[in-house]
Amino acid sequence: MIPPDLPAALRVALEQKAQGLSRNDAAVRATAISQTYRGGGDSGTIRNEADALAYALARMPATYAAVIACLNALHEVRPEFAPRSLLDIGAGPGTATWAAAQVFEALHDFSAIDANPALRTLALDLVRDDARLSTLRYVQSEASTGLRDVAGEDLVIASYVIGELAKDRQAALADRLWAAARDTLLVVEPGTPAGYQRILDLRRQLIAQGAHVIAPCPHDDTCPLTAFSSEVESASPEEKQKAAPDWCHFVQRLPRLRAHKHLKGAELPFEDEKFSYVAVSRTPVRRHPARVLAQPLIAKVAVSAKLCTPQGLSLATIPRRNKPAYARYRKFDWGDAIFDSEDPRVE
Ligand SMILES: C[S@@+](CC[C@H](N)C(=O)[O-])C[C@H]1O[C@@H](n2cnc3c(N)ncnc32)[C@H](O)[C@@H]1O
Repeated sequence: MIPPDLPAALRVALEQKAQGLSRNDAAVRATAISQTYRGGGDSGTIRNEADALAYALARMPATYAAVIACLNALHEVRPEFAPRSLLDIGAGPGTATWAAAQVFEALHDFSAIDANPALRTLALDLVRDDARLSTLRYVQSEASTGLRDVAGEDLVIASYVIGELAKDRQAALADRLWAAARDTLLVVEPGTPAGYQRILDLRRQLIAQGAHVIAPCPHDDTCPLTAFSSEVESASPEEKQKAAPDWCHFVQRLPRLRAHKHLKGAELPFEDEKFSYVAVSRTPVRRHPARVLAQPLIAKVAVSAKLCTPQGLSLATIPRRNKPAYARYRKFDWGDAIFDSEDPRVE
């Protein structure tokens, strides 16, 4: 498993770019950019080098950590996947490119597309001294237009970008992303109900075109959380507990360095990034039997965990008297895949 911290080379490159920067000015810019995002706006407010750097210092650690969590999950389900080429779409400062390079050693052909010239300049500055990433080809273009010239890459990643497009353009972009993916496509969105809805729509669309889900879902069927939501009015209290939270998302904790804390006006030495994602492949995958959908509750008498399984949602309860299973389930975290075929779950 690759840790969620920014790799040392990227940290150094960011620190060098930040030398001489007024931290207060960067904090003002980062706040304005995140207020625009929170208000439903997009990265159009990143207009120059100073904005791009403020954005990267404030957000890159968290989006990097989310992409690493997704790639770790993908790698865990499909350890034999060794992509040689990557396309990072809506690449911004190159976040997903850095993450994929950490997870996949065989990657040696890196390309990226983004409409924003300031973020492109920053991304190329950040990779300049890196032995592998300095070969990055980064095209400044609107995503759908840029994708027309892509013959196909082993791995395509769209991280925190689908939500920046108008709703009526998202499905067309998803088709182009899939066409560009020779093997695997990973899409990551903020872990909000709206982000999850975009992931659901895209998942449904791509499965209809023959895609196989690698992660997080252990199946290609309708998401049981949505199936459940439509019946929620008539649900029993126990069924409601099964469904909460009623959108599929995960959390990655990441450390906050001093400059990061200052920029965000934060005290805590860590933050929790919430994200939703789906990774799909053209190759059928070995299924894992379940995924943990919320932090398991550990009590003296039992551990209970909410699971997504091919049979639907399951609230697993493992009594303490079942010692080996109880010990195993205590260690599970929100987002983990469960691989055992002999799963000692008790409903
Ligand atoms: C929130 S940033 C995410 C950057 C990066 N992928 C990450 O995870 O940190 C969204 C990026 O998508 C780019 N973007 C948004 N709409 C786009 C479009 N239609 N075509 C190309 N790039 C786009 C923006 O310029 C910005 O760099």
